[in-house]
Amino acid sequence: CGIIGIVGTAPVADRLVDALRRLEYRGYDSAGVATLEHGQLTRRRAEGKLRNLETVLADAPLAGHIGIGHTRWATHGRPSVANAHPHATTRVAVVHNGIIENFRDLREELLADGANFESETDTEVVAHLVSREMNHGRSPMEAVANSLPRLQGAFALVFLFDGDDNLLIGARKGSPLAVGYGRGEMFLGSDAIALAPFTDTIAYLDDGEWAVLTRDGAVIRNAANEVVVRAPQKTTAAAFMVEKGNFRHFMAKEMHEQPEVVAHTLGHYIDMANETVRLPEDLPFDFAKLNRMCIAACGTAYYAGLVARYWFEALARLPVEIDVASEFRYREAPLDPNGLMLVISQSGETADTLASLRYARDQGQSVLAVVNVPTSTIAREAHVALPTLAGPEIGVASTKAFTCQLATLAALAVAAGRARGVLSAAEEKRLVRALIELPRLMNEALKLGPTIEHLARSFTQTRDVLYLGRGTAYPLALEGALKLKEISYIHAEGYAAGELKHGPIALIDEKMPVVVIAPHDSVFDKTVSNMQEVAARGGRIILLTDEAGARRAALETEATLILPDADPLIAPLVYAIPVQLLAYHTAVHMGTDVDQPRNLAKSVTVE
Ligand code: G6P
Repeated sequence: CGIIGIVGTAPVADRLVDALRRLEYRGYDSAGVATLEHGQLTRRRAEGKLRNLETVLADAPLAGHIGIGHTRWATHGRPSVANAHPHATTRVAVVHNGIIENFRDLREELLADGANFESETDTEVVAHLVSREMNHGRSPMEAVANSLPRLQGAFALVFLFDGDDNLLIGARKGSPLAVGYGRGEMFLGSDAIALAPFTDTIAYLDDGEWAVLTRDGAVIRNAANEVVVRAPQKTTAAAFMVEKGNFRHFMAKEMHEQPEVVAHTLGHYIDMANETVRLPEDLPFDFAKLNRMCIAACGTAYYAGLVARYWFEALARLPVEIDVASEFRYREAPLDPNGLMLVISQSGETADTLASLRYARDQGQSVLAVVNVPTSTIAREAHVALPTLAGPEIGVASTKAFTCQLATLAALAVAAGRARGVLSAAEEKRLVRALIELPRLMNEALKLGPTIEHLARSFTQTRDVLYLGRGTAYPLALEGALKLKEISYIHAEGYAAGELKHGPIALIDEKMPVVVIAPHDSVFDKTVSNMQEVAARGGRIILLTDEAGARRAALETEATLILPDADPLIAPLVYAIPVQLLAYHTAVHMGTDVDQPRNLAKSVTVE
C-alpha cells in the first residue's frame, strides 16, 4: 500500500491524488483520502483503480488544507469501499501500509469496550485504539504514543485528527515513511517519488520512530519518546510522470525501450574503449576472496538471480545459493563469513527482499543490491547499490527492469570471473564484446512482434501452457510462464526441460502449447531430446531458437521463432524478448488490463 499526508496552505485533494498516482505501484485495489472540511473529518473512498476515486471526488470535491491518502493492496478484507482506507472514528482517521499482526486480540478488546467496527481490516483497530485514548482525555500525541507500543507487525501509519487543522502524526516500524519539508507546508509519504512534486527535502524515519508535523516543521521521536535530531537531505527523485507515447500500454513501450536502456545500463558498467568491465572502486568486498554468494529476490527479480547463478558459477567459479526472499528471510540460513549477499529488486521496496537484506546485514554480511530506484529503501540500506538504469517501469509485469538486471549481473559475473582468475583478459574482452552486441540483437528480436502477435491468437483458446528450458533458458521458462499468467490469467508452468519426464509430461495433449526456449548452445541437443518426447505424444511445440538450432532440431513444430545468433552469455536477454511479447499479445487478445492486472501490485510492500 502507499500512503501520503499533507499539512498544506491550500486545498490538498488534488495533490493527494497526484501522490497516490505515483504510489499506485504499491497496489490498486482501492483508494481513498480524508481531509478536514470546516474542521470535520471527511472521507472519500472508492474500490478499484485510482480513477474511480477521482470520479468520486469530481462529484463530491473536498476543500480541506490538510489531508491523508491511501492506495491499497488488499491483505485483510476484500477490496471494497468499506475496507478502503482511510479508516476513521469521529476523532481520528488513519492510513496504513503493512500488517498489524495482533489485530484480532486488539479488535476483541476494543469490541468489549464498545467500539463499532465498519470494516474487516487490521487497520481499523488502530483508529479505535487512538480514539479510545482520546476519549480518556489524552491529547492526539499522547494517544498515539500510548497506542504504538500495542501494535505488533510491520507498519507505516499517518493520522489526521478531527478539529485539528495543523497536525499530522506519522509512525514507522518496518514499512518505510519519509517526512517532506515544504515552504510553510509539510508532507509524509511512503517514498521520495510520491513527494517529489512537492519537495526535494526529505528525512527518512528509522524503525520505531514517529513524527509530529505542523506547518512549521516536524518533531521526530524514537520508540522511547526521546526527540531525535535528523537533518533533512536533498533527494534526486524525479517528479515527472512517464507517458505512454504512441504505445497502447506501458508494457509495450517498456519492452521496446529495452535495447536503449540495456545499452545505457551496460554503458555504466563497461569501459567501451578498453572492452573491460568497470565496477565502483570502493566495493566493501573482494570477489577474489569470496567463498560463496547468496541471492534473494522476489518474482521476476528472482528469475534474474537464477540466470545470474549460472553465470557466477560458470564464469567465476563462485558457489551461489539462491532463494525467494520470503523463504530466505525465515530460513535462519547460516551465512559464510567470507560470503556476499546479493539482493535484486526493481522497486527497492519489496518487503521480503528488504527483510532478507536486513537479515544478512545483521549477520555481518556485506550486502550488494542491484536496484532500479536509486532513492528506494533497499538502495539506501544496502552497503553498495548497483543501479539498473532502466528508468521508471510502470507496467506491473516487469520487462525492461528484468533485462537491465540481467545486463548488470552479467557485467558483475564477468568482473567476478576476472577477479577470481578464472577469466583471462582476452576472455573478458570477448565477453564484453558480446555484451556490447546486445542492444542490436535485442532490436532484431523485437522485430518478431507481428509474428508473435499472430501466434498469440491461438493461445487465447488454451487453459494451460508449459514452458521448457535448460541452463540459463530454464529461468527464462519460469519467467515466460510468470509473465503469461500475470497478465493473461492463463495458467502456465515453467519447467527445467529435463524434469519434463518426471511429471508434467502427463499433461501433454494436442491442446496444450509447449513453449521450448532453446538457443543453440552446449545443452541444445539435450533439450531437443525433451522436445522429441513432447512430439512423440502429439504435443504442440512452439520453438524459440536460432537458425543453427532450427536446422539441427529438424523437427515438426507448430511454430518456430528464429532469434538472432547470440553468445550464450547474452542469449537470456535476447530470448527474454519473444517470451515477453508472447505474454503481452496474448493478454491484449484476451482483453485484460495489461498494465495493471487484477490482484497484483508492482511492488509488494507487505510480507
Ligand atoms: C511484484 C511484481 C513483480 C516483481 C516483484 C518483485 O510481484 O508484480 O513484477 O518482479 O514484485 O519486485 P521488485 O520491485 O522487488 O523487483
